[in-house]
Amino acid sequence: MIAQLTDAMQQTQALIQRVRRINAHFQHVDLGIEEQLGDIKPGQSLLVRQTQDWQPYLREQWWPVRIAPNLVVVERPGHIKYEPGEFISVLGPVGSFFRFRRSLRHVLLIAYDTPPTPLLSMIPLLIANQTSLTLVLLGEAAAYQTDHLAGQVEVIHGGADLEWEHRIMTVGLADQVFAVARPDDEIRRFGDIWRMFAELRADIRKNYLFGVFQSIQPCGAGVCQACMIRLKQGTALTCVEGPTLDLSQVQL
Ligand code: FES
Repeated sequence: MIAQLTDAMQQTQALIQRVRRINAHFQHVDLGIEEQLGDIKPGQSLLVRQTQDWQPYLREQWWPVRIAPNLVVVERPGHIKYEPGEFISVLGPVGSFFRFRRSLRHVLLIAYDTPPTPLLSMIPLLIANQTSLTLVLLGEAAAYQTDHLAGQVEVIHGGADLEWEHRIMTVGLADQVFAVARPDDEIRRFGDIWRMFAELRADIRKNYLFGVFQSIQPCGAGVCQACMIRLKQGTALTCVEGPTLDLSQVQL
């Protein structure tokens, strides 16, 4: 499996075509991509080095928020300067795409103390499939401004204690849940989310509650093992089997 995905990944260049501010903290960067990257799907990411002089040494993980033919739109912090016309070095697509249940009516997205950026690429796809969406921003994630999101996305703000208004109803409606948590203590935070769901639901079945991991990925190709996550049985490399892992399988 590793060899197969490594073969699918390409190192290439992308052209920064357009940069636009979406709010006080973030900007969207349109990347013109070559055909090799055209297969990138929601859930996968890019490993990017902006300069040719190996600075920074580790590539940055850039998360698409929209994917179109020959175009990927990524969301980046607003304080970094990007110039239209600049070429960047790109490795990708990294990881596996989101896998949705067949009959899906409502998806719940949770961002806990971190911006929801890694989750956003699924929104156009789910809206096109007429799946309803709720985005819950918890703790520090509540500062994320959402005016640029599609109007079909219901946005709810909650506290770092994982409480929000009508929480039982929101959880009860969800057919699938995808969460991101601040990477400095990701496993502990995913554990908090898991315990919250365990309190609200008699049973958390497989293929229901997923964490989207933002582990550091030095190689992105299943070689260095730096992105390894312990599972209840065995381990997973987030750059290959992830970044989205079923939390019922993760050792939390
Ligand atoms: S980043 Fe090297 S194995 Fe995943």
